[in-house]
Amino acid sequence: MKFFIDTANLQQIKEAQALGVLDGVTTNPSLMAKEGITGKKNILNHYVKICNMVDGDVSAEVIATEFEEIIKEGEELAALHPQIVVKLPMIADGVKACKYFSDKNIKTNVTLVFSAGQALLAAKAGATYMSPFLGRLDDISTDGLHLISEIRQIYDNYGFETQILSASVRNTMHVINCAKIGADVMTGPLSSILGLLNHPLTDSGLTQFLKDYKKGNH
Ligand code: E4P
Repeated sequence: MKFFIDTANLQQIKEAQALGVLDGVTTNPSLMAKEGITGKKNILNHYVKICNMVDGDVSAEVIATEFEEIIKEGEELAALHPQIVVKLPMIADGVKACKYFSDKNIKTNVTLVFSAGQALLAAKAGATYMSPFLGRLDDISTDGLHLISEIRQIYDNYGFETQILSASVRNTMHVINCAKIGADVMTGPLSSILGLLNHPLTDSGLTQFLKDYKKGNH
């Protein structure tokens, strides 16, 4: 399973990259705003900075919602850097744009997916990635993991190559459950990745090993 970090915070991206397990980055307009990145020029520059920090794909989301505008904006984003993946909303014009970009071999990530039907449309349109929002479904007492397993089954039935990018991951259990279900990618905050390190028996075991080493070596 690929690990993406879901942030526009350069320090957190750096930390995840340094751990050696990072496969890419996802961003969205809210995450950019959270870091105070505003204005088209600054936003585009920020995407380039992120691309230069990581080895993998970097999702950059279009703001436009009408086909012609989406194409214009998506082409501009794709031209920024070879690692850019054009992130498109799950609306009719977004699906049309997804088909347009996939025919041109430009990578896409269809975002804001909340149903199996939407996931099927994204795959039919040739999306590289399709992002079901796990955490936001859980937030409204709907089983987000069940949706991801339904999508896994549908994609496997027909051999769709679109990668299931479990988004809106909030915690380590989300990560583990997505891996069990067979999601291709997960994107979450740094804490959801670093949290995987934790186990009290690792901590106490290491403390004991170091203590015993010192006993015999002083
Ligand atoms: C997906 O690409 C989105 O950026 C993201 O995962 C949304 O997560 P949230 O529900 O925590 O805002």
